[in-house]
Amino acid sequence: MQTLQSKSIQVKGLVKSYKQHQVLKGVDFEVEKGSIFALLGSNGAGKTTVVKILTTLLQPDSGSAVINEYNVSSNPDQVRQVISLTGQFAAVDEILTGRENLVMIAKLRYLKNPRQIADDMLKRFGLTDAANRKVSTYSGGMRRRLDIALSLVGEPKIIFLDEPTTGLDPEARIEVWKVVKEFAEGGTTVFLTTQYLEEAEHLADRIAILHEGRIITSGTLSELKKMLPSAKVEYVEKQPTLEEIFLAIVGKKEGK
Ligand SMILES: Nc1ncnc2c1ncn2[C@@H]1O[C@H](COP(=O)(O)OP(=O)(O)OP(=O)(O)O)[C@@H](O)[C@H]1O
Ligand SMILES: [Mg+2]
Repeated sequence: MQTLQSKSIQVKGLVKSYKQHQVLKGVDFEVEKGSIFALLGSNGAGKTTVVKILTTLLQPDSGSAVINEYNVSSNPDQVRQVISLTGQFAAVDEILTGRENLVMIAKLRYLKNPRQIADDMLKRFGLTDAANRKVSTYSGGMRRRLDIALSLVGEPKIIFLDEPTTGLDPEARIEVWKVVKEFAEGGTTVFLTTQYLEEAEHLADRIAILHEGRIITSGTLSELKKMLPSAKVEYVEKQPTLEEIFLAIVGKKEGK
């Protein structure tokens, strides 16, 4: 199908249960090549479950997910060749230095000039000064930045970032946003999950809200802004924030 060409990710009717608990009840969305897509949802909404299915770590019960024209269930190896994943929790090797971690991944990916690649990444992520220190001495923000840098080694076509800036201070968060944007401008498709509405607002070309097992709304930020009930818009003089839109659409925020 020609329509597949412009899409990096196509998800249809994804269903997943953990025992009796049906977490995904029919999730549908598409992500354009080279765009930044944010999947937004509260704790436990099922964001990580979606990421695991799309990155071939978990089988859906039904429905399909296609990454660069390959089905994650029937062609997981092809899918793995074009993606990279930064999981929700940092996966760096503590006893190695930042540079050693990067060199190791570059070598594992059979890239030429692993040291050069490592140095470029260190610079890009503001880690040059800490390059030769063991990761066990890094702050949480530095570790997270290194983790994201590791997943970008080898310029994957599609990167999955599961809550990339959770636990980062505002400065470190802005740094991560900058780098993510740069990669998208270079043609990489970025799929990220976040609980931070501000993050989706800053970064994403399209935003989808996962709630009670389904995508209850999706669109560009300006499309979502138009969905805010008009009566409410009259009240707010400034533009509604994504948070206001989220709360208006989801209703009362549960859980926390
Ligand atoms: N392996 C598992 N076995 C049983 N239940 C699970 C498993 N993994 C996730 N769940 C449950 O499925 C639901 C969705 O979890 P998931 O991790 O996908 O949510 P999330 O949106 O990523 O949440 P968070 O924002 O806290 O990371 C939660 O209720 C969680 O407890
Ligand atoms: Mg999660």
